[in-house]
Amino acid sequence: MQKSFTMDRRTIIAGNWKMMLGANEARELASSLAKAVGEVEHTEVIIAPSPPVLTQVIDAVSGTNIKVSAQNCHTEQKGAFTGEWSAELLAEIGCTHVIVGHSERRKYFHESNEFVAQKALAAFRAGIIPIACIGETLEEREAGETFEIISAQTEAILSALSKEQLPKLVLAYEPVWAIGTGKTATPKQAQEVHEFLRGIIAKYDEDAAKEIRILYGGSVKPENVDSLMAMPDIDGALVGGASLKTESFARIVNYEA
Ligand code: PGA
Repeated sequence: MQKSFTMDRRTIIAGNWKMMLGANEARELASSLAKAVGEVEHTEVIIAPSPPVLTQVIDAVSGTNIKVSAQNCHTEQKGAFTGEWSAELLAEIGCTHVIVGHSERRKYFHESNEFVAQKALAAFRAGIIPIACIGETLEEREAGETFEIISAQTEAILSALSKEQLPKLVLAYEPVWAIGTGKTATPKQAQEVHEFLRGIIAKYDEDAAKEIRILYGGSVKPENVDSLMAMPDIDGALVGGASLKTESFARIVNYEA
């Protein structure tokens, strides 16, 4: 049985395809997922392909319940920003979500907390939902700075949003040391941070703290999804590697918790 049937917050399972697939592979995976999980209702299923194949993936899952997210967007609506794209463009082609502040963007493209917050705002401006990622590195965890780091990352975003936008935000806690490493946070470690995050949100708006979906990400796979999803404050998963195969992603979507 899926937890979404028993809780107010509908769970989300999102697949972040990163830069892992070519165009044919992306189309094939989208078509195969449309058959495997296209009818699922207990959970919101979202996939995030690379920009050049977004429209093809949107076509491949049209008529199903699967939603399509981008992996990034710019803060501005229009302008001389070669190589970038706006949240408005994403909305226009049929994306419903956009991932902002993934740790790979923070690390390799030097995105600051403030810039990520502006991207979340840009998504709302365009009428799509930001999936905002936060998370500490191994060094930060070992130095006992986890809560300080994720507070700063989260508050930058929360303080930028309006009261109406706040409950619609999706947060993804992704400890950097668990991404693509095969090393998952234990359900207890993840729950501890998720509960802490809900406390931060409550400082801004108590109702929003109950409504916001907080996903866990970092080596989520069929073998560990059930125990993670059993935690009261884990409302879903942002999945990298295990989202690239229909079988494993479908098993994660149909988690048992
Ligand atoms: P992973 O990636 O599941 O491969 O660890 C998660 C992510 O980066 O969103």
